[in-house]
Amino acid sequence: MRLLEVRDLRTSFFTDAGEVKAVNGVSFNLDEGKVLGIVGESGSGKSVTAYSVMQILASTGKIVGGSIKFRGEELVGAPEKKLKEIRGNRISIIFQDPMTSLNPTYTIGTQLMEAILLHTDRNRKEAYERAVELIRLVQINEPEKRMKQYPFELSGGMRQRIVIAMALACEPVILIGDEPTTALVVTIQAGILELMSSLQKELGMAIIMITHDLGVVAQMCDEVIVMYAGSICEQGTAEEIFYNPHHEYTKGLLHSIPTVSNEYEKLQPITGTPIDLLNMPEGCPFAPRCENAMKICIKCHPTRRIINDKHMATCWMNDKNDVGEIDTSVLPKEAEEEELDK
Ligand SMILES: Nc1ncnc2c1ncn2[C@@H]1O[C@H](COP(=O)(O)OP(=O)(O)O)[C@@H](O)[C@H]1O
Ligand code: SF4
Ligand SMILES: [Mg+2]
Repeated sequence: MRLLEVRDLRTSFFTDAGEVKAVNGVSFNLDEGKVLGIVGESGSGKSVTAYSVMQILASTGKIVGGSIKFRGEELVGAPEKKLKEIRGNRISIIFQDPMTSLNPTYTIGTQLMEAILLHTDRNRKEAYERAVELIRLVQINEPEKRMKQYPFELSGGMRQRIVIAMALACEPVILIGDEPTTALVVTIQAGILELMSSLQKELGMAIIMITHDLGVVAQMCDEVIVMYAGSICEQGTAEEIFYNPHHEYTKGLLHSIPTVSNEYEKLQPITGTPIDLLNMPEGCPFAPRCENAMKICIKCHPTRRIINDKHMATCWMNDKNDVGEIDTSVLPKEAEEEELDK
């Protein structure tokens, strides 16, 4: 069953320097029980996409276009009461730094129970029992002892497990992880990812996993969105993205991660810096950094092509090589007519 349907989402920040188009026409679906990965460098619009879905944007941020449907119900422009209900009871988010979600002055037990009492009909005794159960669920030992501890008494990894437990308090159908392992030491990261995978299987919820790390995506995602400069450059099943990439940026990302097959090769980071969102180029946003950029890449934004039924990419290279079909459903009206005239 379809949980989330995002179409042509556009989110901007209105700053003194001008309109920052942080998310620029993002579309995707999320089905029950699936794990969707959103991957891209820092500043590509991953968090803003998630915050738009939750509608927890900074005061300068605004959804300026598109649609976000949760189980068929439109969230863009929905009344705050409706949004609160969905935010607290249907969709939960885990942030990068556990300390942003935990209050240092209250015990773990108090905070967990507060979340449970807020989101469910349980009484205090039941909330206590549920809190203990949640601590056990996120695989922390001695749950009764943890209930009495303060966040500073726990390790970083344990704190993030508690944050996951808090996110589960409302029994969400969608759990968003916004780089939930980035702030943790490497040795702890794998355990958190494994926990999220096992919880997903056990509880059957859908996950949106935001990361700059393709390794994380490979480990747990069914579908992947690759973002660059606020747009989707490629999307498809994890298998298609890893073994059949059709965008130069994705290829660059793949070359910059260590894998078994390139163990003895020099890793190649993508050179150059991401573009200035206040001055978006006319053509492909990746063109200034793309080793294979052509003349057309600088002049015109590439068209989105359906590589196959599990894969889409927006790169002129596919037009040049005549790979896949142009996705006319996302073309602006004039362009569509031009395309039909050809
Ligand atoms: N509060 C804000 N005010 C102005 N611009 C913002 C704000 N938050 C994000 N942005 C802009 O949106 C872009 C995308 O941000 P974000 O989604 O946080 O990136 P990431 O992919 O690293 O999560 C940033 O590069 C920045 O230019
Ligand atoms: S459209 Fe052109 S510049 Fe952009 S990624 Fe493809 S080849 Fe490179
Ligand atoms: Mg982010």
